[in-house]
Amino acid sequence: MDLQRLATASRLANIDAFHVMELAKQAAELERAGRHIIHMGIGEPDFTAAEPVVRAAEAAMRRGVTQYTSALGIAPLREAIAGYYKTMYGIDIPARRVVVTAGASAALLLACAVLVEIGAEVLMPDPSYPCNRHFVAAFDGRAKMIPSGPAQRFQLTAQQVETHWGEQTRGVLLASPSNPTGTSILPDELARILKAVRTRQGFAIVDEIYQGLSYDAPPVSALSLDDDVITVNSFSKYFNMTGWRLGWLVVPDELVGAFEKVAQNLFICASAVAQHAALACFSPEALAIYDARKAEFHRRRDAIVPALESLGLRVPVKPDGAFYVYADCRGVNHPSAGDADALTQAMLHDAGVVLVPGQDFGPYTASDYIRISYATSMENIEEAMARLGKFFA
Ligand SMILES: Cc1ncc(COP(=O)(O)O)c(C=O)c1O
Repeated sequence: MDLQRLATASRLANIDAFHVMELAKQAAELERAGRHIIHMGIGEPDFTAAEPVVRAAEAAMRRGVTQYTSALGIAPLREAIAGYYKTMYGIDIPARRVVVTAGASAALLLACAVLVEIGAEVLMPDPSYPCNRHFVAAFDGRAKMIPSGPAQRFQLTAQQVETHWGEQTRGVLLASPSNPTGTSILPDELARILKAVRTRQGFAIVDEIYQGLSYDAPPVSALSLDDDVITVNSFSKYFNMTGWRLGWLVVPDELVGAFEKVAQNLFICASAVAQHAALACFSPEALAIYDARKAEFHRRRDAIVPALESLGLRVPVKPDGAFYVYADCRGVNHPSAGDADALTQAMLHDAGVVLVPGQDFGPYTASDYIRISYATSMENIEEAMARLGKFFA
């Protein structure tokens, strides 16, 4: 084969593979060899869609509402999502500003397609969700990752936005609560960040995918602070519908046409069955199920944080949302303390527990941290903590 002919585009050089996928492959091999592995690497709820949603999907298939929809999504779902903002945050969002997408992933991709100029710089915290820098790179922008340590809840500050905003900077990409840290940006700081961005005529994309899983205080949407923010959300996490591929954006009125045009071209529409099924997410019956599951995540958070601390995995900022803990591995009793990559390898092979090394989320102090996902049963969490207890003994 003529390899030269099939050379990849140069932008591929800016897109990295996940370290955790390598660990997942090794875990699968160990499982094939008969080992019992506990998966705490994955960022996916262990629950699946609530029963009313499954019934709605079946009914949608029987009714044959399985054809393309409008690129912006079916009208009742856009209205239901707008209604969700009213009940959840007390804010009025017109349904015409809601863009239904194939997950938050497609939402972020669309937002970057619409807003990121070639060569434009987008500020984001380091650590961040790995795909964020790659969404920007996919449109030939440049993610500028700003070191964001525990003193600032692993999130950008307004001061940093002001300091790092350069000639080529066009906007910020934030997530609150964050993956990998489970920490939110405090509302006052978020308001200051949005003001700094607005003063510079930039854009703010705020990923609120984990807001439904906020444990310590009612979540505050960036939309209640600034109407021009582009917010991203999804049915994947709170609604436990990862594989259904459904999410949404709320965009300013004047951008709806641009998002529609790009969505038509890139995706045509989000899954029709998933859209019709998702209408049932907002029924009282489904919301009661989801709230009970959220309470279960909360219970796990409260159990796992002290358990990790007692293993020497210090948690410098208590996560207030999502299902992740970002723990400092420098103080553990192991030769690979402070080398997250080697430590997660050893944890997999010697203890049979999959965790994610900080390296996946950006270079800043990456080897000091590991991400633990508690999107698994309490039984698994207890077993994993017991195994790690022996591993560090
Ligand atoms: C912060 C964040 N944003 C977006 C996504 C993508 O989610 P979706 O399944 O809705 O595409 C994830 C998935 O883990 C995430 O953690």
